[in-house]
Amino acid sequence: MEIRGSRILLTGASGGLGEAIAHDLADRGAHVVLTARSGEILAELAKRTGGEVQVADLADRDDLSRICGMLSEVDVLVCNAGIGGYGSVSGTRVDQIDHVLDVNLRAPMVLATEFANRCIESSRPGQIVMIGSLSGVVTTPNSALYNGTKFGLRGLHARHPTGPRSV
Ligand SMILES: NC(=O)c1ccc[n+]([C@@H]2O[C@H](COP(=O)([O-])OP(=O)(O)OC[C@H]3O[C@@H](n4cnc5c(N)ncnc54)[C@H](OP(=O)(O)O)[C@@H]3O)[C@@H](O)[C@H]2O)c1
Repeated sequence: MEIRGSRILLTGASGGLGEAIAHDLADRGAHVVLTARSGEILAELAKRTGGEVQVADLADRDDLSRICGMLSEVDVLVCNAGIGGYGSVSGTRVDQIDHVLDVNLRAPMVLATEFANRCIESSRPGQIVMIGSLSGVVTTPNSALYNGTKFGLRGLHARHPTGPRSV
């Protein structure tokens, strides 16, 4: 993957890993499009990395569509945004399930699919990076929702034993 000179869309840029990834990519010469809900944090990060800010709630379908609309001009998509889904299954409300699915699974699936389609349509290369978790490999007590989303991401993107998965 050529990072220098690439335009990279990074979700969850305002968080712990996102900020570190943004700095690393900027240090390697990428132009990073920083997205998350926290505009002020992103604005500060943009000052330090030279990136640009796109405030968006990935659980909001209009916001997600707007971000998808930017993918034609992106070389690398990094789906890093994620939230925990903790507690016992029996005490979980449907709206909590919907929200964790929207942020952790639906948004990366939609972004990756849109990005792949645009790359194929315009015959240009593209790279997709999904930030997974060990929680997508093994389960732990009281994290069934989070496990479910991270297992799901792996199902979409994990390398097939006989070779990379094509999209
Ligand atoms: N930290 C770990 O030990 C660890 C381990 C394994 C995997 N991971 C994975 O690594 C990724 C980043 O984790 P982290 O520790 O950096 O988490 P974090 O510090 O809590 O950051 C989460 C990021 O996701 C964004 N986000 C949350 N809800 C959003 C929404 N509705 N719309 C748009 N953005 C939203 C947050 O931004 P706003 O709140 O500003 O929207 C923030 O930028 C996650 O996918 C996580 O599952 C983390």
